[in-house]
Amino acid sequence: MSDAPADAAGSRGQLWHGRFEVAPAAELVAFTESLSYDQRLLVDDVACSKAHVRGLHRGGLLTADELGALLGGLDAVEMEFRAGDLAFVESDEDVHTAIERRVTELVGPVGGKLHTGRSRNDQVATAFRHYLKRALADVAGRVLDLVDVLAARADQAGTGDDAAFLPGFTHLQQAQPVLLAHHLMAHAWALLRDVDRIGDCLGRIDVSPLGAGALAGSSLPLDPDGTAADAGFAARFENSLDATSDRDFAAETLFVLSLCAVHLSRMGEEVVLWTTEEFGFARLDDQYATGSSMLPQKKNPDIAELARGKAGRVIGDLAGFLATLKSLPLAYNRDLQEDKEPVFDALDTVRLALGAMAGLYRTLELRTDRMAQAASSPYAVATDLAEHLVAQGMPFREAHGVVGALVRESLDGGAPLPELVAASDHFGPEVQEWFVPGASARRRTTPGGAGPGPVTAQRARLAEQVTAARAAVAARLAVAP
Ligand code: ARG
Repeated sequence: MSDAPADAAGSRGQLWHGRFEVAPAAELVAFTESLSYDQRLLVDDVACSKAHVRGLHRGGLLTADELGALLGGLDAVEMEFRAGDLAFVESDEDVHTAIERRVTELVGPVGGKLHTGRSRNDQVATAFRHYLKRALADVAGRVLDLVDVLAARADQAGTGDDAAFLPGFTHLQQAQPVLLAHHLMAHAWALLRDVDRIGDCLGRIDVSPLGAGALAGSSLPLDPDGTAADAGFAARFENSLDATSDRDFAAETLFVLSLCAVHLSRMGEEVVLWTTEEFGFARLDDQYATGSSMLPQKKNPDIAELARGKAGRVIGDLAGFLATLKSLPLAYNRDLQEDKEPVFDALDTVRLALGAMAGLYRTLELRTDRMAQAASSPYAVATDLAEHLVAQGMPFREAHGVVGALVRESLDGGAPLPELVAASDHFGPEVQEWFVPGASARRRTTPGGAGPGPVTAQRARLAEQVTAARAAVAARLAVAP
């Protein structure tokens, strides 16, 4: 099969069959193929191939008729693919060879000019970058959707006199009460940084390797600047060896997705804790909870747990791929084909997790009564008391000691803290109102702090930044096919 002469009927075997006498072994085909997972690059490869052939035409390597035939063939292949009608054959090693084979079947021998001045090494890197530009813009949009959900929940939690508050924790021990809106927006800011990182990463992805050839460029009059612009890239490569062997962009994509998955995992862990009987800070909506096959009373937070569990898988995608890269000599090595599966897996996993977590948070019943109750321990006021003494000129260390002693006395079986404070020479009656539940949470006034004033300002800044990020994502998606 592989030694049959090239023809338009698709019987020519591997595209590289020329110097081989016999067909490849079945084990080789099975082990080295990437068609089973790289078909999702088809539309990107077609877009970049169209830019490539237009470049060939500008360079005088294709007549206008030949150009028209190849563009028509590429469009036809894409249409067949979108309609689910593109049939693959055994010699299709990957989506790139499948496209060339099918174009040649459709347009005849001129199809053999499609690969002029091009190697799969620059081709695959170009198509992959092209794909990632739209895939990452899509992920960024979904991250922003989740940010919107958190912001809406923060608005419900409020910053007014009846604002919801809960204990803030350090070391998972109660520390100081904070507004619920502040807590929810803490997650929103982390996610917004993920969007920012995606934007950064997209800047480096947005470079076309097309024209680098197998590794060294070409003697033919190619136009890498023109094809880069035509395929929607911001720039072309600077070095053909680097262009064909660089997969920093894939590793960076995996890192950005891993960190986003870690953020989702932390949010998941919190939901797992909050929905326990013991915390009781939240109840899952039935639509976003699961039951137990044996225990009729159970309502389980499986989405939250899988957001936590699948972070491990995404981190594994990153770690595994870095190991793939670490010893590769310049330039292209077939190892690089291993770039796609981890990236696709990480993209799919994070995309699904984002959607599920957005639904979960949108519908989560936040039990602000339980939160308030938990945050109403008089000991939560200890820092306010110490700060009161500091405001009157006492060195902080001394103030810490004075209040600490009162706390110890109360904990050791003495009177409740408010009574000890009332009896202390250090404090007047004005501090008693801080023991009213929620009062302490409202006393945080510094920028970025957890009280109503700074939280209101923070909410406005979040809105501004989300709007700017949405516009950036929309601009990215607008240029993608
Ligand atoms: N299918 C490969 C990939 O996805 C490209 C194959 C390049 N093969 C080669 N022998 N140069 O990376």
